[in-house]
Amino acid sequence: MDPQLLKSKIEAVKQIPTLPGVLSKMTAMIHDPETSTEQLGGVISRDQVLAAKVLKLINSSFYGFPGRISSVSHALVLLGFNVIKGMVVSASVFDMMNRAVVGLWEHSLGCATLSGIIARKLGEKESEEVFVAGLLHDIGKVMIKVSLPDDYDRIQRMSAVQEIVVREAEQEIVGVDHARIAQWVAAQWHLPEAIAEPMVYHHEPLGAGAYARRTAMVHLADVLIQAVGFGSGGNVSVPPLDEDACSLLNADEGFMEAVLLELEENLDSLSAFSLEA
Ligand SMILES: [Fe+2]
Ligand SMILES: [Fe+2]
Repeated sequence: MDPQLLKSKIEAVKQIPTLPGVLSKMTAMIHDPETSTEQLGGVISRDQVLAAKVLKLINSSFYGFPGRISSVSHALVLLGFNVIKGMVVSASVFDMMNRAVVGLWEHSLGCATLSGIIARKLGEKESEEVFVAGLLHDIGKVMIKVSLPDDYDRIQRMSAVQEIVVREAEQEIVGVDHARIAQWVAAQWHLPEAIAEPMVYHHEPLGAGAYARRTAMVHLADVLIQAVGFGSGGNVSVPPLDEDACSLLNADEGFMEAVLLELEENLDSLSAFSLEA
């Protein structure tokens, strides 16, 4: 393809949309040691639509947090800033997304749920962060959809016709894949490494650094949710599981079965879940 054209496409996806003012404000506040969680929670709560979406996500059964959380400040105390920031990001990003891409939203939500289940089963302390990483792992696809909608459709077609994975088609048509775009997004929005690494390396989990374990969890969740056939990440066939990732987690067949069994209990509510209030 014409290198000039490719370059302009990459420039286009690099124009990461700005996050709602709430987030930059939160990020600034968090660096100030004087800031209290009430003040932080107050900032989010002022955007009522956003606050409602964040609370809806947190209180969904698949998030796995027991008990109802009724305020953003309470959520901040219980779950920490990274998780809430990830939730705000997710709610905003999926808002930007055309409703036509329901399959991708379901895929993301399903992957998040599975990531959370896997993380809890493996005794991961910050399982909520793993959930959020699962929710955001394919954010690069959303970016392509938002900045280059025609190319997004072309990618879907190419991957179906040539039976290649979506990211190969992305390379071909846009010049970068959604994992690379995730890296730019994470940098631009100052997402913590703990959430960024699993997003960027979910296809090759052992390429991750300090957070290889969490990355392997999101990888496993991403493949399993496609195997179950819930939602659509755009691939026609299920991509292979990375064996090293499975051994890193000690995830054998029995483990996968247990995980999928737990997922099954959530599938109905998952398909019915929407961020709309
Ligand atoms: Fe992906
Ligand atoms: Fe995915």
